[in-house]
Amino acid sequence: FEVSWDASAAEKGGWPSFMAKEIDEDPEAVANTLRGRVQHDTVVLPDLDALGDDYFTGIDRVVIVACGTAAYSAQVGVYAIEEWSRIPSVVELAHEFRYRNPVLTERTLVVSMSQSGETMDTLMAVRYAKERGAKTLSICNTQGATIPRESDAVVYTHAGPEVAVASTKAFLAQITALYLLGLYAAQVRGTLDAERRAELLTEFQTIPEKVRTVLDVRPRIRELANWMADTRSVLYLGRNVGYPIALEGALKLKEIAYIHAEGFAAGELKHGPIALIEPGQPVFVIVPSPRHDDTLHPKIVSNIQEIRARGARVLAICEAGDAAVLPYADEVIGVPPTEPFFEPLLAVVPLQVFAIELATAKGLDVDQPRNLAKSVTVE
Ligand code: G6P
Repeated sequence: FEVSWDASAAEKGGWPSFMAKEIDEDPEAVANTLRGRVQHDTVVLPDLDALGDDYFTGIDRVVIVACGTAAYSAQVGVYAIEEWSRIPSVVELAHEFRYRNPVLTERTLVVSMSQSGETMDTLMAVRYAKERGAKTLSICNTQGATIPRESDAVVYTHAGPEVAVASTKAFLAQITALYLLGLYAAQVRGTLDAERRAELLTEFQTIPEKVRTVLDVRPRIRELANWMADTRSVLYLGRNVGYPIALEGALKLKEIAYIHAEGFAAGELKHGPIALIEPGQPVFVIVPSPRHDDTLHPKIVSNIQEIRARGARVLAICEAGDAAVLPYADEVIGVPPTEPFFEPLLAVVPLQVFAIELATAKGLDVDQPRNLAKSVTVE
């Protein structure tokens, strides 16, 4: 009598892959990163005390350094940090940052974003920033990793261990942590009125539940992916915070399905990418809610019309019931209404699901994609 025991299958808790399990944990990644850090209408981040008293009133720039998916979460984050705290904020790929001569002063906060806390280029960027006299803050998912150990302060994301090479739940946790940082800085600097902050924090806490709702689209996306298993190229368009989501959606598909995929800022379409549109070309479009803004939504609808007129197959991710999109989209994936800054946390989920379903339809190993490592600890 022999009992067969597969430790890795056990850890997957019944899921076919770590990646499938980790996507299912997207809601908890947000909830756990928020936990204990919002009290009534206030953000509480004692983790930042190490930077010094009134630190955020004295800084004049935030630079976030990161690689891969972490750089895309950072790109979402800077829109919010700058909007709420009015601190000029940028993202730079860690391996570009350290090989030029960036302007850094003691009033620059260099934030590193890293799931593993071990990415060599990000670590070297942190060391470089410290040598140049900037303060360093690590946002990291791994307790006690090298980058948080070497930084002046650390805010942990609490996504739980991420095993699959392609990052999913950590991405949502990273955006969550950056939004908390932005709201905290705004609170200290008095750049956002308390009522608005309270509104945002109330909505923030509904996001895990809304992410869970979005996960219900899995069976439909599986059908779509099965149907598209032979696709050779997929494009992704977004604006504002939807732009880094387009980049992240494309990255997921490259990483695990080995399909050529590119994300664009929708406003760039007519400056080049529209030449790629030929009949049948699948294009995901991340559509902001029409309720909050009267500028971005009509622009993206007209982008949809432009590509549709050239035969693109439009796969729209939009607020459920967005009537302006329906007539022009081949597939509509509806997400619950939320504040514009929280839309990325919902819109990225169907793109993660699409990548895993397409890779699965092609019979690929989604946890261990070819040529890639979970953590790149060499230069
Ligand atoms: C590798 C992984 C990516 C990850 C990137 C940054 O390329 O395959 O999934 O986004 O490293 O990793 P980090 O641990 O620094 O977030």
